[in-house]
This record gives sequence, structure tokens and C-alpha cells, in this order.
Amino acid sequence: MSTSATRCTWSSELPFLMTPRTKRAAKAASGNILRGRFAKGRLPEVEAFTASLPFDRRLFRHDIRGSIAHADMLAKVKLISRAEAARIGKGLRAIEREIEAGKFKFDVADEDIHIAIERRLIDLAGDAGRKLHTARSRNDQVALDFRLFLKDEIPAVIALIERLREALLDVASNHADSVMPGYTHMQRAQPVSLAHHILAYVDMLDRDRERFSQALARTDVMPLGAGALAGTTLQVDREAVARELGFARIVENSMDAVSDRDFAVDFLSAAALLGVHLSRMSEEIILWTTSEFGFATLPDEFSTGSSMMPQKKNPDLLELIRGKSGRVIGDLVAMLTILKGLPLTYNSDLQEDKERVFDALDTVKPALDVIAKLWPRIKFDVDAMRAAAGGFALATDLAEYLVERGMPFREAHEIIGALVRDTIAAGKSLEDLSLDDFRRHSPRFDPDVLEMLDPENSIKVRSVIGGPAP
Ligand code: ARG
Repeated sequence: MSTSATRCTWSSELPFLMTPRTKRAAKAASGNILRGRFAKGRLPEVEAFTASLPFDRRLFRHDIRGSIAHADMLAKVKLISRAEAARIGKGLRAIEREIEAGKFKFDVADEDIHIAIERRLIDLAGDAGRKLHTARSRNDQVALDFRLFLKDEIPAVIALIERLREALLDVASNHADSVMPGYTHMQRAQPVSLAHHILAYVDMLDRDRERFSQALARTDVMPLGAGALAGTTLQVDREAVARELGFARIVENSMDAVSDRDFAVDFLSAAALLGVHLSRMSEEIILWTTSEFGFATLPDEFSTGSSMMPQKKNPDLLELIRGKSGRVIGDLVAMLTILKGLPLTYNSDLQEDKERVFDALDTVKPALDVIAKLWPRIKFDVDAMRAAAGGFALATDLAEYLVERGMPFREAHEIIGALVRDTIAAGKSLEDLSLDDFRRHSPRFDPDVLEMLDPENSIKVRSVIGGPAP
């Protein structure tokens, strides 16, 4: 193979893939440890196209952890000796240090992280290294690594959700008495407290947390021992591997074990919905901080300037949290689409799973982090919110006042509707009305109706479970 042929024409952005080798080394790599049956090496373009190494390197710790557990099990059932398992363990730990130190030579010819590590292990541990892959396929290996990875990452996402939740609870506890309009159809509807509004997001996050824990429970199942798809003739101890790696259960069906990516879909759908929640939250902060609303001000540390308009203070951060929820939804849809037509069992389409999960993870984690840091620093203009919460937002309370005095709700609804219409026509607001104005619409109004026209009071009396009362 000529030197020029070892360079793929379109992989210039992945220079690490082609760490310079001598011609002879390049040839040896093209006949890598999987290519016993082939007379020729692959085209460099084919190597580059099929490789997952550029992104699945991220699984190296999990691959090593899984391999050490596998080797220990092989020794336990006497498929290899204790000394060989020890040599494998020592070699794998050395490889982990090499990768961490940036000293590991990645080569695209190795296809993926599993082969890259195994090849290096054979360099370091010789025949013991050649025994590691006993009773194992990359198909069950990658399923194991991916599950181990998510078993580490899902709790990290849950912890970030909890941090945001705490931040929201803190802000809410300062605003139990801050009155603002609640909206339906983006029209002022009824007064609520800012705390009540924020606590709606706390409830959403509680459900997100629950969904991630459920995703974690379905991820916490150990696939190794499935082999390529149909198990192995060798007497392995799958339970021992599961125990060693801290899995709750083992996957029961070997064909399911290598082709199931439901756990990735579970994760991605929890992430997509979390992304949607963060997007809605961002959208509201964006609205509140417009001059039109004027309910809040964004802190400088979270705002962006304009390249042309000197006065601008832009909420780019929030727009991007909103925008990036689109890519997480895309990751979920892509994953479902990848799975949709796949026959059992492993097909290389499944290799596309990892980037979807990495992308979703790398999107929601920083979004959770920054928005949790933003909330305590948002400055709310409680007077502006209070001013927007009065007036016609109390119309429903007036209808309920008449209901308490024996009127059917539909009749009360109509009477208050007419009252609102007349008040608007007179260029007034509800607070401007006298007892006579009310009595003209119904004799059931008493002087106490005038005290009712107070948003604080309106919130206090809506003390039904789940209501906005402080
Ligand atoms: N790189 C592969 C993946 O990410 C590992 C499994 C490969 N198995 C195979 N038979 N090609 O899915």
C-alpha cells in the first residue's frame, strides 16, 4: 500500500486517525487483528467511513472496566489462568493511563475503541492479551460499554436536574407573595404568584428526574455472554460479571442483548422532553425580560451584546437552550429511525447510536448547568408584575362571587362578560367601578365585592390543593 493511499482524501479533519506509521506498519494495520480471512486491506476511504473510533474513544474507560471484569470471570471459570488475568488487568490499566495521558496511538485501521485497546493489549501482554476476547464478541462488548457509560452519565444528569430544582425552589421561596398575571393563549388570565409559576417547572423537573431513573433501571442490565448473537459453548459465568460491574440484572435473551438499544431510546426520550421543558422555561424568561413585559432583567453575565446596536442586551444563552432542544429531539428521532427497520440481531446501523446519545448528553448537561446558575441572578420587577396582574384578570373571581350567592355559573359568566364589555367601553378597569356599577349588572353584589378586587386576595382565596395560595 503506497503512503498516499493510506491517507483518506476526506478525513483531513481527523488527523489523529492517521498517526504516521511506516509503510510496513501501515500494511500490518490494514491486515488488522480481524482480517485473517482477507487477502487485501480495505481502501482508506472505507476504513475511514466505517470507523467509529473518532467518537467511541469516549468509551475507553468503560471498555477497559468491562474487559477487566470479563478477564477475571474467565479466570474464575478456568478458561484462562489467574496469571493471565493479572497480565491482562495490568496491561489494560496501563492502556487507560496511556489514553488519559494522550500517549495512546489511535489508528483508524483499528475501526473502533474495542479493537484499538485489544491490539495494544496484545502488544503489552502477548498471548494473555490474545485470550481476552474468549467467549466475547464486539456485539455484546459494545452493548456492555454503552450501558456502563449511561449508568455513569444518567446519575450525573439527575444530579444536574436536582440542582436546577433547588435553584427554582430558592427563587420560589422568595416570591410566594409576588403577584403576576397567569396567562392562557398568551392573554392575561388570572393572577398567580411568581412562586406558583416557578413551581410548575419544579413539577416538570420532578417528572424528568423520574423518567431518567426509569431509563437508568432499564439500562442497568448486563448483556455480556450473549456473544455475537447466540451465546457461547464455553461455560462462562454471566452473573459474576454482572455482580463485578454492579449491574442489577443480566439480559436474558442473547439476541435481544446485542440488538436492543431501547435503553438509548429511553435516555434520549427523557433528554428530549427535558430539552422541551428547558426550552419552554427559556422562552418565558426571554418574554419576561423584553421591554414589552418588563417583568425581569437578565444579569450581564448571562447576556450578549449586538454587533451593530449598542443598546442591545440579548438573551442568546436562552435562545440557544431553546434552539438546542431541537437537536436533542433530532437525536431521539434519528435513533428511532435507525432502529425502525432493523432485523435482529446486530447490524452496523447500531454503531450510529453513540453519537446521538453523546450529542444529547453534551447538550442537556451544560444547558441544565447554566440555567441553574442563571435563575438566582434574575432580577424580578415585582411592581411591574403586580401592576399587570390586576384589572380584568379578576373577572373569574367576580363570577365565582355570584356563584357563592346562589347564581348558576353560566349565568354569572354572562353577567360578568357584560360587565367587562361595558367597563371597556367606558374606558375603565374593574378597580374603577363603584358598587352602583356592579349593582346595575346584578342585585346580588354587596359592598364586599369592592374588597375582592385585589390580586393578593384573589391568590390567597384560591387555596384549593394545587392552587396558587401562598
Ligand atoms: N464499533 C461497533 C459499534 O459501535 C462495535 C460493534 C461492531 N461489531 C461488528 N460486528 N461490526 O457498534
